[in-house]
Amino acid sequence: MTWLRRHGAFVVINVLAVLPLLWLVVDAWLGRLSADPVTDVQDRTGLYAIILLTVSLAGTPLYWLLGFDWLRLLRRLAGLYAFGYVVLHVANLVWLDFGFNLTFLYEDILVKRYIIAGLAAFILLLPVFLASLAIRQARPVRGWRWLRYLVYPAVLLAAVHFILQTRLDLRLPLAFTAVIALLLFVRLPFIRSFIDRSGKRRVELDQ
Ligand code: HEM
Repeated sequence: MTWLRRHGAFVVINVLAVLPLLWLVVDAWLGRLSADPVTDVQDRTGLYAIILLTVSLAGTPLYWLLGFDWLRLLRRLAGLYAFGYVVLHVANLVWLDFGFNLTFLYEDILVKRYIIAGLAAFILLLPVFLASLAIRQARPVRGWRWLRYLVYPAVLLAAVHFILQTRLDLRLPLAFTAVIALLLFVRLPFIRSFIDRSGKRRVELDQ
């Protein structure tokens, strides 16, 4: 019982974050992907990444409001898994789509400008991920705390990337953009102090 209370959230969050990958692998294994499986993998890994980035972003304000410790864990793990899905997203493009032909990839980027927004988001997330790993190893490097703020432009760029690559129905990318904008808005100092007064945790305790 004590074990469950201590590790239950950790197990549940990990399982939930890995499930979409398992689902994708099973679909690929059973031949349930479309006639263009590489694009399927591209779209699904991209979607899982932006969902987890949004969940991670929501973790902090929800923690301020509700005060559950597992929300901090959710923020961290969702962020790490989001980065993992982005790596799969990029690897799928570079490896399965372009067979490591970087010249073709470069030419494609010149045509599909939305990839530039995606790449910028990826580059911004890289140091955040590395800093997060260093903090986990209890070796936080002095002056690294500010790196976490790179998540904000990264998530916005990911939303722009999502909008720009969508050809027909813009509802889903716009919905994500609206939620992400709201989650960034609540971090403004005057909103934070309002949440601080009405929430269960003092904002100063957290980022
Ligand atoms: C934080 C980083 C990124 C996130 C969150 C992200 C997310 C997404 C999402 C949500 C989609 C649309 C999925 C759908 O239509 O259902 C997408 C599509 C796509 N992404 Fe990314 N992406 C990121 C970075 C990148 C990078 C770095 C590249 C290339 C190097 C890239 C290449 C693509 C391509 C080519 C598509 C379109 C696939 C198609 O033709 O349908 N993305 N991405």
